[in-house]
Amino acid sequence: MVKIAASLLAADFSKLADEVRRAEEAGADWLHFDVMDGHFVPNITMGPQVVRDLRNKSGLFFDVHLMIENPENYLEKFYEAGADLLTVSAEACVHLHKVIQMIRSLGIKAGVALNPATPLSAIKYLLDDLDLVLLMSVNPGFGGQKFIPAVIPKIRELKSMVKDRKLEIQVDGGINDQTARQVREAGATVLVAGTAIFGSDDLVTAVKMLKTAGEKSP
Ligand code: DX5
Ligand code: ZN
Repeated sequence: MVKIAASLLAADFSKLADEVRRAEEAGADWLHFDVMDGHFVPNITMGPQVVRDLRNKSGLFFDVHLMIENPENYLEKFYEAGADLLTVSAEACVHLHKVIQMIRSLGIKAGVALNPATPLSAIKYLLDDLDLVLLMSVNPGFGGQKFIPAVIPKIRELKSMVKDRKLEIQVDGGINDQTARQVREAGATVLVAGTAIFGSDDLVTAVKMLKTAGEKSP
């Protein structure tokens, strides 16, 4: 079964701890933190303090998605705040291999995110050093955008590159019941969802639908 990473970007920031509890109770597997700096992407969101304060409120796996320039300057801060996984944007790193080594030396999981137009060749020689590859299915910066279908063949291609490595294929952006089924069938193992979860009146059903979308019935 795929894992669901609930993106706090679509939550009500005036009551984040409650929102985290609601996502956890609804069966989300991971909490996804969208960190944006107003440079790499046009939006500004949260920093390590938010991760640290929520760390005391939840036992979920903390998946921190860094959409920032010079991420190497902030890795330790997010690690100390309680991140379990740090994902950096390939397009924001001149020395991507080095940044991944820095994350691994902290003893946590390391991921690389690729924008929709960035080819898989960007991570071809890094696969043995990664725990996760995040394929963006929207242009990063905002929640609630429309899914870009060209990511489907990209997921399939990544899956065949991964072979038997223990590497998660995460897809982020525009995930709903329909697109969840498509990305799962293509090979995604972790689905990020913001609007589809926090925009729903019934989080339990929303998470369940995303988790089981496209599963073959027995
Ligand atoms: C976009 C973020 C996503 C975003 C997804 O830049 O990386 O994680 O929260 O939001 P939805 O699920 O609303 O497309
Ligand atoms: Zn994200």
